Amino acid sequence: MKKVYIRTFGCQMNVHDSEIMAGLLREIGYGITEDMNEADVVLLNTCSIRQKAEEKVYSQLGSLKKLKKERPNLILGVGGCMAQREGGEIFRRSPSVDLIFGTHQICNLPTILNKVIRERRKVMAIEEEKIDQEEVKAYRADKTKAYVAIMRGCNNHCTYCVVPSARGRQRSRPPEGIIKEIENLVEEGYREVTLLGQKVTAYGKDLRGIDFADLLERVNEIEGIEKIRFITSHPRDMSDRLIKTLPRLSRAAEHLHLPVQSGSNRILKAMNRGYNREEYLKIIEKIRSLIPKMSITTDIIVGFPGEREKDFADTLSLMKEVRFASAYMFKYSPRSDTPAERMLDQIPEEIRLKRLHEVIDLQREIIKNNSHLRKEVE
Ligand code: SAH
Ligand code: SF4
Ligand code: F3S
Repeated sequence: MKKVYIRTFGCQMNVHDSEIMAGLLREIGYGITEDMNEADVVLLNTCSIRQKAEEKVYSQLGSLKKLKKERPNLILGVGGCMAQREGGEIFRRSPSVDLIFGTHQICNLPTILNKVIRERRKVMAIEEEKIDQEEVKAYRADKTKAYVAIMRGCNNHCTYCVVPSARGRQRSRPPEGIIKEIENLVEEGYREVTLLGQKVTAYGKDLRGIDFADLLERVNEIEGIEKIRFITSHPRDMSDRLIKTLPRLSRAAEHLHLPVQSGSNRILKAMNRGYNREEYLKIIEKIRSLIPKMSITTDIIVGFPGEREKDFADTLSLMKEVRFASAYMFKYSPRSDTPAERMLDQIPEEIRLKRLHEVIDLQREIIKNNSHLRKEVE
């Protein structure tokens, strides 16, 4: 049996896409291996979110070049967000790569791979497809907790972000397919699902007659599911209706990941986030009044173009005010073909780094001073 090794970079959506790739390749007779050295095919499912994510992929490709010298029949493929955005540039920088397939082409992976093998040539497939691979049976390594994609893409166009170009416009999956998939998972013994999307709170805006609150209620009715999680929520779509639905969901985890990115209204506007500091704080207040134990986590970017000391101080003060249970903190990374990359007043690397250390220290302090929160994080 031929074997494939898949290495995943990036977010949970990519982890799940890798599960779909594994499912598709098993259908055409491949085995999945955890050991790169025994693989006939090595696939990297890549991420472009920050410069560092791309560097990791190129460094992995560097070491794979050696493996390929030892084993010339090894097939090397690059898929995912970076493949979608970089396309042929990956062939130019890493000539040992045999195939490039974008996020829109995952369902065609078996065909693309067979073409590479049969025709003994390099293939690149990054065109946008009309149909997504939603109904493909994923091959999941975990047997009790499952990721379920409820939507793909994002229409938000935050000015720093590559996701809209790496994954295209928002496409919500019809609810019937999602419910059926979860019911099947329950039958297989799964007890926990995480509903995935770049902006799950906007679920259904491209469909008719359903929104995210409705979907949550429907998933909550599925017998056998013990815990429902969902990522990522966006403050822009945290309507009162959605907030009021949360406490009614008997099976939902008491956790909300709600990226704020910045505490400064000037910066939030430049980021095109679609809400301001006061609105964000109001959402938190409403949620905490309904679900006092809700563990709220966030993402923060420091050093966005134009971020003055005053703006940065606003982020620190927002963190102190909300006291997040945990936070993913990043220094702004300029990405090609994004509006923020072209903004004047880019912040020097040393200042970005200094601010990053400062938010990390502050968050550490906040968690340390609150043993209740600490327990939830651990
Ligand atoms: N869809 C999610 C975010 C996905 S990316 C949302 O809207 O919340 C995960 C996180 O990476 C973002 O929340 C942001 O904090 C960070 N990020 C995205 N682009 C970035 C960039 N260019 N530089 C630094 N951090 C970035
Ligand atoms: Fe990127 Fe913004 Fe969409 Fe999140 S909401 S994926 S940060 S464009
Ligand atoms: Fe990275 Fe793509 Fe996810 S850019 S963060 S893998 S959507």
